[in-house]
Amino acid sequence: MNPFQFRAPTIVFANKSAAQLYDLVGGLLGDKVLFVTDSGLRRLGICDAAIGSLDRAGAKVEIFSDVEADPSSRTVLRAVDDGRSAGVTGVVGFGGGSSLDVAKLAALLLGSGEDIDGVWGVGNAKGPRLPLVLVPTTAGTGSEVTPVSIITVGEDEKRGVSSPIILPDIAILDPELTVGLPPAITAATGVDAMVHAIEAYTSKSGNNNPISRTLAREALKLLGANIERAVLDGADLEARGAMLLGSMLAGQAFANSPVAAVHALAYPVGGTFHVPHGLSNSLVLPHVLRFNAPEAAHLYAEIAADAFPEIAEEPSVQSKCVAFIEALASLSSRLGMSTKLRDVGVGERHLAQMAKDAMKQQRLLVNNPRPVTESDALAIYRAAW
Ligand SMILES: [Fe+2]
Repeated sequence: MNPFQFRAPTIVFANKSAAQLYDLVGGLLGDKVLFVTDSGLRRLGICDAAIGSLDRAGAKVEIFSDVEADPSSRTVLRAVDDGRSAGVTGVVGFGGGSSLDVAKLAALLLGSGEDIDGVWGVGNAKGPRLPLVLVPTTAGTGSEVTPVSIITVGEDEKRGVSSPIILPDIAILDPELTVGLPPAITAATGVDAMVHAIEAYTSKSGNNNPISRTLAREALKLLGANIERAVLDGADLEARGAMLLGSMLAGQAFANSPVAAVHALAYPVGGTFHVPHGLSNSLVLPHVLRFNAPEAAHLYAEIAADAFPEIAEEPSVQSKCVAFIEALASLSSRLGMSTKLRDVGVGERHLAQMAKDAMKQQRLLVNNPRPVTESDALAIYRAAW
């Protein structure tokens, strides 16, 4: 068996746990807390119980609520400035993947004094960071348990910081926070989580390990059984809890056995056309899996019935693999998601540049079960268009 490392933060999973934030994390955050979130959650009052818990315990809370979708490096630096002026001793990230990603980098830069331009890439962040607690309000990115922060630099270049130092101390999962998510976001983030599990399970990473594979399969069972319920009835707290748990498990799986070509090909779609991350993934998902099938059919066959139990009846590896890819494609359309790149503003003339841009994601492409060249990427985009 290959040697491997598996890293994960402490997890708290309970309804209404956000309202007990301070009690759950004890004195970890110190007495001055930078609370990183977005203006929508702030306006809707979804942060109030968590902030109230910090207030009641006597902590001074500096609220930074300017995180946008596809957060920019400018936003990170503004959060750091606010935190530095307030002399904060700990950071809470509260929201979707964007807020959590900004909180991770803010905790790092505030704690270490590092320059943001010195930390991009894998393993370049040195730390130490400030104490960090992450509270997700969507079930998909898994950012609350991953050592990765994705930030937009300049107009539309996505850069990542990947370092165990930005794993949080504690992730707090409160299913009630996700009850108000609209169906489109529930669907897109849920499919993103399924992609995390699939790509982690099949990752070529040298650190692909039995814990990640076990978590990926458990995640697919929870996500496959509950995604339609959660989209159809957002108030179904059982389904919401299962989605939040599934996305966290998938997050741990890919935090330690990283994702591959679905994500690499999704980034140019999201970055250039401002398509939400989960939708970008679902648009290329069946086409990348079909491309990978010659190398990975046996792996897809192993996990197919976890997500879609009826596939257990299929007689062969090949038919299980085909049924899995078809089931994923029809799931996206049943969930009401766009299924073609042309439907989200991508023109045929853009595909060549997107293929070129996808090649920049070597950090991810090296994990793909089948090598992807620029002309392969173009063929996949054409199929998805
Ligand atoms: Fe993702």
